[in-house]
Amino acid sequence: MRNFALGMLFALAVLLGGGYWVLKRGYVNLSADQKPGAMEDHFAMTAVDASLERRVIQRANPVAATDDNLVAGARLYLDHCAGCHGVPLNPDSSFARSFYPPVPEFFSDPPDMSENQNFYIIQHGVRWTGMPAWNGTLTEPQIWQIVTFLSHIQKLPPAVQSVFGPETPTPPAMPMTMPMPMPH
Ligand code: HEC
Repeated sequence: MRNFALGMLFALAVLLGGGYWVLKRGYVNLSADQKPGAMEDHFAMTAVDASLERRVIQRANPVAATDDNLVAGARLYLDHCAGCHGVPLNPDSSFARSFYPPVPEFFSDPPDMSENQNFYIIQHGVRWTGMPAWNGTLTEPQIWQIVTFLSHIQKLPPAVQSVFGPETPTPPAMPMTMPMPMPH
């Protein structure tokens, strides 16, 4: 029995040591343009979901979906989030797809989690992804305004849509002409 336990311990040490060696020698490619294996993908997703599930606080959204709050949320989104999560005129950018995991583009793929889950993710970010923690930059009321905006992203009133500019793309600027050299 004692030998069996020692054998198990030895096997475990070899496995852990081997795993560490593989990582330390750089055999696992951690570039953002490489797709991870099914196992890494599964474990990472499970861990992120479970961590969120354990920590999320259930409470009522204190921000009503009035035009004023939605406009405020849209402005905050435009300033802080749209560069990654997209705008109506560019709802699916190659920039967003260059991340691993890719950035969800909210105007083509609206957030499908609860408001409390969105609030937690925005406050704390997601480690090992491009999603930053915003609790040092945005106040709780501001984060609730963004959460409310995200919940209504598929049916924004016109006042809120106008935060993102006119519906039709603006015509390209006049081509730059070379300044004529001044005669001496
Ligand atoms: C630098 C790029 C970047 C910026 C800026 C950014 N995010 Fe993210 N965000 C990400 C990435 C990448 C993910 C995917 C994380 C994952 O897959 O676990 C993400 C995930 C999320 C999610 C979870 C969505 C889901 O359904 O899984 C929410 C909600 C979110 N971001 C909101 C915001 C808000 C609100 C802001 C602005 C205050 C913001 N993000 C700014 C990159 C960014």
